[in-house]
Amino acid sequence: MLDQGQAPPLAPAAPRKPAHPLLRRKPVEQLVAEGGQGEGGSLRRSLTMWQLTMISIGATLGTGIFVVLGTAAPKAGPAVTISFIIAGLTALFSALSYAELAGSVPVSGSSYSYAYATMGELVAWICGWCLILEYGVSVAAVAVGWGEYLNELLDGTIGITIPERFAAPLGDGGYINVPALVVVLLAMVFLMRGAKESARINSIMVAVKIVTLLLFIGIGFMGFKSGNYSNFNPLGNMGVVAGAATLFFSYIGFDAASTAGEEAKNPKRDLPRAIMLSLLIVTVLYVLVAFVAVGAMPWQDFEGTEAALAQIMTDVTGHSVWGVVLAAGAVVAIASVVFAVLYGQTRILFAMSRDGLVPKVFARVNPRTGAPRANVVIVSLFCGLLAATVPLGKLADATSIGTLFAFGLVNIAVIILRFTRPDMPRTFKVALFPLTPILGFIACGGMMTQLDVATWKVFGGWMAAGLVIYFLYGIRRSRLATAEPAAAEK
Ligand code: ALA
Repeated sequence: MLDQGQAPPLAPAAPRKPAHPLLRRKPVEQLVAEGGQGEGGSLRRSLTMWQLTMISIGATLGTGIFVVLGTAAPKAGPAVTISFIIAGLTALFSALSYAELAGSVPVSGSSYSYAYATMGELVAWICGWCLILEYGVSVAAVAVGWGEYLNELLDGTIGITIPERFAAPLGDGGYINVPALVVVLLAMVFLMRGAKESARINSIMVAVKIVTLLLFIGIGFMGFKSGNYSNFNPLGNMGVVAGAATLFFSYIGFDAASTAGEEAKNPKRDLPRAIMLSLLIVTVLYVLVAFVAVGAMPWQDFEGTEAALAQIMTDVTGHSVWGVVLAAGAVVAIASVVFAVLYGQTRILFAMSRDGLVPKVFARVNPRTGAPRANVVIVSLFCGLLAATVPLGKLADATSIGTLFAFGLVNIAVIILRFTRPDMPRTFKVALFPLTPILGFIACGGMMTQLDVATWKVFGGWMAAGLVIYFLYGIRRSRLATAEPAAAEK
């Protein structure tokens, strides 16, 4: 166990160079043996199953339900509940694959590491690069949503809002998005304290957001009008599917527990449970919230209504204070997504850095806190500045496409590992193998086709940039290429 914060020497890298650099794979045993070890210190194993579940819920439940529901409802009509279920099923297939791999390869790199063990370095890099879209870029997108709810809250409590020029970047009607920067920097401060402290803060925020949504379900139900469901599917099945593609964003993050593999007390047992449990909890909440929301407010009215859930609370009760309560809950909820997703991003880069594919600074661990502090600072500044200065209109969809790609790869990885390592101990096994991962792969691909051309262009540009970086840097710096122990590199 590596729970004392000591800094054992890094495990030796692969003794020989594989035939082709792009296809070199990192053996599962080596990935696991290196678990926790960073530059100058190690991560600490302190997280329980519940804390891991809270990390996944923390990373998942936020903008999707509080903000994106408002754009999906006009696309799908009252059948938006079905859109949530479709998006949830897409996530479920992949979640099963994540659970199997997290239980057998419990490291911090999540799907990046699974791809490294099964499909080789180039695919692993591409996967890791997509994870930066899923985690790093989504932090920025989510931080922007946070600013919108913060304004709603300020408006409802003290009657003032942050002026547009300080709440939006150039190109979006302002100069800089200060709230988005602030929430990322706040998360940075807490993350510097290490995984145990971070998990504690995260659990409190998750409790607040679950209570807020339960409150919404209770109050919203009092305003439920069955007439709002008289035409359940007015926009047809294509509308439902388009809604599902948009809402997929709301499930992103259930895999966040898999980035905590090297800080979990009992990762093989707890990671699969945490992933499945978090997905179950968020799906139930999403479907109930969407069902009640459309029951309380005609689906056409969601168009152009900012902070729709807060609006519903105010309308149903006749008191704006309830809208303010909802907005306060949303501010905490979305901040917790920023926090948990930022945590995941730092741990993925930690794993990539240990493998030599990104600079070593990302694997440097503070021996006192057990936190990769330099990593936390760099990632936070990057995400914070991105959120503050770049118009993020298309970013939610760009995040989804990167995530779907990474999920698709995880479904393939689970199949490959079953064939290449059939006897490897597995604490969780995908049911109905290989049908489930195949369906998972198809579902992810199908969902990607629903995203628009502009999103595909962003994705293409992102991938091209990633390949350039890999061929200029990672291919030569990879520890499998240099084949020397990292300890000797210091
Ligand atoms: N699933 C996360 C959210 O909805 C990204 O905010």
